[in-house]
Amino acid sequence: MTTMRCVRIHGFGGPEALSLEEVAMPHPAGGEVLVRVHAASVNPVDAKIRSGRYPRVQADQLPLTLGRDVAGEVVESGGGTGLPMVGTAVHAMLGWDRGGYADYAVVKAAELAPQPDGLDAVEAAAVPLAGLTAWQGLFDHGGLQAGQRVLIHGGAGGVGHFAVQFAKARGAFVATTVSGDDLAFAHELGADQAVDYEADRFEEMVQPVDVVFDLVGGETQARSWGVLKPGGILVSTLGPPDEEHAKAHGARGAGYMAQPNGSQLAEIDRLIADGKVRPVIGAVLRLPEAAVAHERLERHRVRGKLVLEVAATD
Ligand SMILES: NC(=O)c1ccc[n+]([C@@H]2O[C@H](COP(=O)([O-])OP(=O)(O)OC[C@H]3O[C@@H](n4cnc5c(N)ncnc54)[C@H](OP(=O)(O)O)[C@@H]3O)[C@@H](O)[C@H]2O)c1
Repeated sequence: MTTMRCVRIHGFGGPEALSLEEVAMPHPAGGEVLVRVHAASVNPVDAKIRSGRYPRVQADQLPLTLGRDVAGEVVESGGGTGLPMVGTAVHAMLGWDRGGYADYAVVKAAELAPQPDGLDAVEAAAVPLAGLTAWQGLFDHGGLQAGQRVLIHGGAGGVGHFAVQFAKARGAFVATTVSGDDLAFAHELGADQAVDYEADRFEEMVQPVDVVFDLVGGETQARSWGVLKPGGILVSTLGPPDEEHAKAHGARGAGYMAQPNGSQLAEIDRLIADGKVRPVIGAVLRLPEAAVAHERLERHRVRGKLVLEVAATD
């Protein structure tokens, strides 16, 4: 049996629950390719799943390989139309049934896009989940248009740093909340207004907006209704916003789960190729250091994305 390395969990727990193991190589079915993973990014959802805080993943679904993002090279095709050729560099957000912290991953045709020119594998792995979350939140759910105003909470993080750049590229006025150390970074990304969430109250500084994009939740979300114009929308990645609050403010709320989408990923890649958007890498670790990556993501401030390099020689 041919085997490969992967990082998976057999039970919920802290970063020590992550275990580097040899497992059987997967094989692609029709409409799928096998990708030799060169890099896999780390997202907060990985830590939520690991610790049992993610309702969609229950104990009876374990063991589970973690990781929703991969970048690498197609090494085998399952056959079918619209599949990239063997040797093509691709990146993708994976569906729930597969994990990216591994030497190889099966990727469905509808999930992938060719890696954009000018990005290495680490940068390409940083894009799919965070980029698609920002894209779907701002445009599919928020309906953000050129000339509108948006407030993005958490604009220096994995999703937020893409959201600031996408909203700016669309022609919106962009306000964002970040920690004090990230104020200059937010302006570099294109934000028109950056508010230090620890030092200032955003609701006293930001003029009414058409869209609030909430990547923080809790009290930050609750204080955001007053910043919306009448008829505006609060879109959150952290569950459905309170309908009573929305009604009381003459606004709307939307919660959503980001979905894999190769066509939207290709649109994002065009912005990257045009130099309008860039993924920012906060830290790079190696596959066997997945537990360290989780500790860092949970305990420390990471600007942009945290990525695992997956090298056969580790
Ligand atoms: N529903 C979905 O499909 C979906 C998809 C992706 C992500 N998410 C969720 O969305 C959230 C953000 O994801 P991410 O990948 O961007 O996480 P991340 O990379 O950890 O970024 C979070 C950012 O929020 C900032 N922040 C923390 N408290 C804040 C506050 N009170 N006000 C403003 N900013 C604050 C952090 O800044 P400091 O570190 O400087 O404090 C950090 O830059 C996570 O909870 C994640 O699980 C959901």
